Amino acid sequence: MTVATTIQQQLQGASWIRKMFEEGIRLKAERGAENIFDFTLGNPSEDPPPGVIETFQRLANRNAPGSHGYMPNSGFQAARRVVAERLKRDTGLPFDENLVLMTVGCAGAMNTALKALLDPGDEVIVPMPAFPDYQFYITNHGGRMVPVETDEDFSLDVARIEAGITVRTRAIILNSPNNPTGVIYSEQVLRDLDSVLRKADHTIVAISDEPYKSIVYDGAKCPEMASIVSNCMVTTSWSKTWALAGERIGYLAISPRIPDAAALSVACNFTNRILGYINAPAIWQLVAAEAPEEMTDLAAYHEKRSLLCDGLAEIGYKVKKPQGAFYVFLKTPIPDDLVFARTLQEEGVLAVPGSGFGRSGFVRLSLTVPRDTIIRSLPAFSRALQKQTVGPGTRSI
Ligand SMILES: Cc1ncc(COP(=O)(O)O)c(C=O)c1O
Repeated sequence: MTVATTIQQQLQGASWIRKMFEEGIRLKAERGAENIFDFTLGNPSEDPPPGVIETFQRLANRNAPGSHGYMPNSGFQAARRVVAERLKRDTGLPFDENLVLMTVGCAGAMNTALKALLDPGDEVIVPMPAFPDYQFYITNHGGRMVPVETDEDFSLDVARIEAGITVRTRAIILNSPNNPTGVIYSEQVLRDLDSVLRKADHTIVAISDEPYKSIVYDGAKCPEMASIVSNCMVTTSWSKTWALAGERIGYLAISPRIPDAAALSVACNFTNRILGYINAPAIWQLVAAEAPEEMTDLAAYHEKRSLLCDGLAEIGYKVKKPQGAFYVFLKTPIPDDLVFARTLQEEGVLAVPGSGFGRSGFVRLSLTVPRDTIIRSLPAFSRALQKQTVGPGTRSI
């Protein structure tokens, strides 16, 4: 076999996600795309904000001299300065452009950070359930993921985190608003976490993975992680808030409170380069510098969240509305989420089993689908629930 054993094993571990994706393609061909309700992908169906597209077009037309060449690995200074000013405003901390790197999306930022932090065998705590790719990002750099369960409301269980800390713990990944649960961590729980992290006799960095930070509902506000958690690196992107995940633009920011923040920044410049990113896409850095506060249509997500959650509750599901991000983590009527995902699939609904995020008994539904998909899918959700109540299926996915 030409493919490395590690990658073969990782593909095996992630194969159910691919299977859902492939099943979706097969079912659409078989039954017609209009009869399949695909809630699996976190790919925004909303168009990017017009202000972002106009800025992009204007900058492309300007075609300024020197705008297409190599640059410092951290990106254009103008873009980093804008990001640093926003961070300074929001956190009250003395961020400057030397502590900011423009990156190839949020995934690029996370890999750049982890490569700079981890030696082989170092541990990274991940509160569960979690975005499945964290595990691969950590092993990319020789690290070991230490999963720690959250509490019954999917908030951080600080006592469990404390119990999970060892001399090898180098980082913890925090994702708020959370994919898949939609939970926003409270200021209090973050303060408690900070006390625990600071008790350790070595630096433990909190990597705050924030691509959904501004996607919040009912006037909720996501606490500024860097203001509360002392040793914080922020990783984020405009993938979700601008609805242009394919353009791959994000950033990594290093809190000035981290000991050796300047050295860590130099390290991240280097890791960004040797991971092969070199620098973030040039034109999108320039767009980010001019239109950082533009926002996707939040009202549309708000409406779709109500349509889906209220619709499912009326049918008889136990639903908790997400506080942020654009996923509904739905409790399945039977404990086996793989069996229930199969039942939904038979009715034409594609959902990601919670097991893929490390928590069985749930499925994840993405609100990135068009509004009409939600409305037309509700009878299928109802049939699946009835089927399950009448007699649970036994086949697994
Ligand atoms: C929690 C989380 N982190 C990181 C990413 C990666 O974001 P990007 O596409 O900007 O790399 C995603 C994408 O879905 C995500 O859900």
